[in-house]
Amino acid sequence: MSTTSADLPAFAGRHIGPRDEDIATMLSVVGRTSLDDLLDAAVPDGIRALDALDIEPAASEAAVVAELREVAARNRRVTSMIGLGYYGTHTPAVIARNVLENPAWYTAYTPYQPEISQGRLEALLNFQTVVSDLTGLPIAGASLLDEATAAAEAMTLMRRSSKAPAQAVLLVDTEVFPQTLGVVRTRAVPLQIPVVVADLAGVTSAEGLRDAAGGAEVFGVLVQYPAMEGVLHDLSALTAAAHEVGALVTASADLLALTLATPPGEWGADVAVGTSQRFGVAMGFGGPHAGYMSVRPGLERTMPGRLVGVSVDAVGAPAYRLALQTREQHIRREKATSNICTAQVLLAVMASMYAVYHGPAGLRAIALGVHAHAEALRGALRDGGVDVLEGPIFDTLRVKVPGRAREVVDAALAAGVNLWLHDADTVQLSVDETTGLVDLHRVAKAFGVVSPDQVDIAPPQWDESLVRTSDYLTHPVFSTHHSETSMLRYLRRLSDRDFALDRGMIPLGSCTMKLNATTEMVAVTWPEFAEVHPFAPHEQTRGIRGLVDQLSGWLCDITGYDAVSLQPNAGSQGELAGLLAIAAYHRSRGDDERTVCLIPASAHGTNAASAVMAGLKVVVVKTDPITGNVDMDDLKAKVEAHRETLAAIMVTYPSTHGVFEDTITDLCAMVHDAGGQVYVDGANLNALVGVARPGKFGADVSHLNLHKTFCIPHGGGGPGVGPVGVRAHLAPHLPNHPLDELAGPTDGVGPVSAAPYGSASILPISWAYVRLMGGAGLRRATEVAVLNANYVAARLREHYPVLYSGTDGLVAHECILDLRGITKDTGVSVDDVAKRLIDYGFHAPTMSFPVAGTLMVEPTESEDLAELDRFCDTMIQIRREIDEVGSGAVAAADSVLRGAPHTAEAIAGDWDHGYDRRTAAFPEGVDPTSKYWPPVRRIDGAYGDRHLVCSCPPPEAFEE
Ligand SMILES: Cc1ncc(COP(=O)(O)O)c(C=O)c1O
Repeated sequence: MSTTSADLPAFAGRHIGPRDEDIATMLSVVGRTSLDDLLDAAVPDGIRALDALDIEPAASEAAVVAELREVAARNRRVTSMIGLGYYGTHTPAVIARNVLENPAWYTAYTPYQPEISQGRLEALLNFQTVVSDLTGLPIAGASLLDEATAAAEAMTLMRRSSKAPAQAVLLVDTEVFPQTLGVVRTRAVPLQIPVVVADLAGVTSAEGLRDAAGGAEVFGVLVQYPAMEGVLHDLSALTAAAHEVGALVTASADLLALTLATPPGEWGADVAVGTSQRFGVAMGFGGPHAGYMSVRPGLERTMPGRLVGVSVDAVGAPAYRLALQTREQHIRREKATSNICTAQVLLAVMASMYAVYHGPAGLRAIALGVHAHAEALRGALRDGGVDVLEGPIFDTLRVKVPGRAREVVDAALAAGVNLWLHDADTVQLSVDETTGLVDLHRVAKAFGVVSPDQVDIAPPQWDESLVRTSDYLTHPVFSTHHSETSMLRYLRRLSDRDFALDRGMIPLGSCTMKLNATTEMVAVTWPEFAEVHPFAPHEQTRGIRGLVDQLSGWLCDITGYDAVSLQPNAGSQGELAGLLAIAAYHRSRGDDERTVCLIPASAHGTNAASAVMAGLKVVVVKTDPITGNVDMDDLKAKVEAHRETLAAIMVTYPSTHGVFEDTITDLCAMVHDAGGQVYVDGANLNALVGVARPGKFGADVSHLNLHKTFCIPHGGGGPGVGPVGVRAHLAPHLPNHPLDELAGPTDGVGPVSAAPYGSASILPISWAYVRLMGGAGLRRATEVAVLNANYVAARLREHYPVLYSGTDGLVAHECILDLRGITKDTGVSVDDVAKRLIDYGFHAPTMSFPVAGTLMVEPTESEDLAELDRFCDTMIQIRREIDEVGSGAVAAADSVLRGAPHTAEAIAGDWDHGYDRRTAAFPEGVDPTSKYWPPVRRIDGAYGDRHLVCSCPPPEAFEE
């Protein structure tokens, strides 16, 4: 039964756009009498959930904040010196307030429409420049998910790029972080990549390298730089040896250390990976932070993830865009270099701005301070007769205290500092930007030695080969914005160039760009959540762990699954985790030969790419050209053909065509009958919450995108959280973690993220959303999401064919507008319409997915009737513009559509178009007082790929 808004929590009225009276109007346009009537007609009976969600709504937004304060108070704030890839850092307040807490940055989408994304593309280009300069490798990507997954991506990159035979091994140094090794192993198993762990510190010859590998051939070497134990080794001879045997070398390197130490690119590494966390991004109990990767020339075409490049616009002005996209899953599917889609854009922007704000001298000063504190402490320990590891170090000390390690760690904790218990005899600790003399004092006391009374800042006394001599961050952007005034204005200038949800609707199909309410966001920056190390003792993290448990329980109720892992830090990683669980389940039953994964032709690119990463063979199932549904005859044939080897089917529900397919239960039964498992991609859960539960209608496993359905903002391309939910039989095969026995089942498939709970610090956002809405509010959100999509479909149907719909002519939560006929008749393309929408102040819908030549519109429940009507009116107006081309009155090449988008500069400049300036910039419906002006004209994508430039271009490039 649908409730009335009077029965809903007050917050539902804030989150959901249309008012009651609007809903009545919209229902009549759609031809339905009530929301119940709409859902009854749209959603197949066989999948409907009969019972309501068992989630009580909170009293108010204030009450939720108060509850979150109580949760936060159950975390204990302790100074962390644990290190291992996570360090204390000061986020400059100007960046915290104006990026992390600013909807202009955090509500943007991935910059696929580059003309309206120039601000974040510039920030990402800065990030790439930081990474490339510091690592000494010329091409860096625009962020990966974390350090450990970046290392796993480097493993597959090295495998693709090395000519070593198939049985060759990945050689990993013993002093690589344990979570990195854990993720590398998880990812190596399904690809049958042998991983050998060996002490590589003394290896300097090809023979030594082969010996370390136990005589095996080697395709890749992975080292930590500085090593986990803290020592900075000269790895040039090791690298030369690796190259001699045809292997590549990846350095998992600390960006702050690289301001002082010889960068990997200069000692020969082929690839550098790592995290940019300590560049102003809080530890957050493990994430999110931006992982990075940079490579030597020649490897750029095999890099994973997004790469920002410089191109030109229609009038030849420099403009940024995503480069070399043909490597990526959304184009190459099972042949993609990786499954990465959502990455860590917001965090990469923060890290880049940290570098912009401090500049090269500032970063070096921070690094020198860190190093000096570490040396001062080492001196004190040494003077006190404690056995501390000698050798060139940056920030980390490994200390031998035979039989006393626990005692020392406890003593430090009693003084408010977390150290790392390496083993019963060894303590490890890392100094960071926030460490002061008082912290050194506490630590010295815990070891029973006299504290240093001062810290002398001085350049490191390292061997010449280890000392960095090359410049970095020489581009003017890194020496211009060092006053807060200048920084503030730079951030504002960039965000003004972009179109985010704070300006208007982003109707991207399959992306669920809904409200990210401010109340949901507030807890993210509270120190009780932000400053927690992911490997802090359990008793210090009761608050966040309780929140994880409660959210997991709610997600189980919502999806109908028995267990959920919140570890995957994007949808793609949830997919991988789910497929690994399926593969492990089959193996546990002796069904090793079950390796075929059926995937409908319309699936999202990540599905196929994830299946390959999970060691499965992709077999494509046709979709019906008329209905868009899975072709059940073809499915039957494929199931029969692969009956003995069928591992799984991976379907999206509702489908990527935006339809509730009524054959879903038959599909599940057919696959189960053949011994396969059913993976339902839950990225479209916004159409199901409170209405149907995949775990109950036949699926075995799903990932969800909390950065869609559960209100985590998209951040301009990340962060995300991609929890994976499973039925009980798959629960023993969920991810776990080598450093946290509570983070998953004992015999799980291993970690899929660096941190036990992935991007834990943004989980309060989804927690708050569920708490604010309650079961009834969540269900209402689903109903209105379906209503909004059907309203748009109903209003636009006579102007643009709506490609697919269910039996009653209804769509689910999104609809596809088919422009193929229009393009054929007039020459006006989806691209033209997408760019023209910019002139009207809209972000384009999803272009050409899942069907080329179409636009997929997903309005979400948060858009109100006025905004929906503004969009529909605009699309109708654009149809009139298309008709002028269709009638022959205007040539497509000289139409306002092809000329779009129009910049302010273009309007003020020479004018040689067949249409006037007002038509271009202020068409009907555009309010001149609040017009969004794109900063560039239409961008030439191909040019940017032909002339690849992936770091900041010199300022002269922007001269007239
Ligand atoms: C249907 C579907 N599956 C999977 C994904 C991948 O999720 P993510 O981008 O978080 O990796 C998406 C993302 O847009 C999607 O739309």
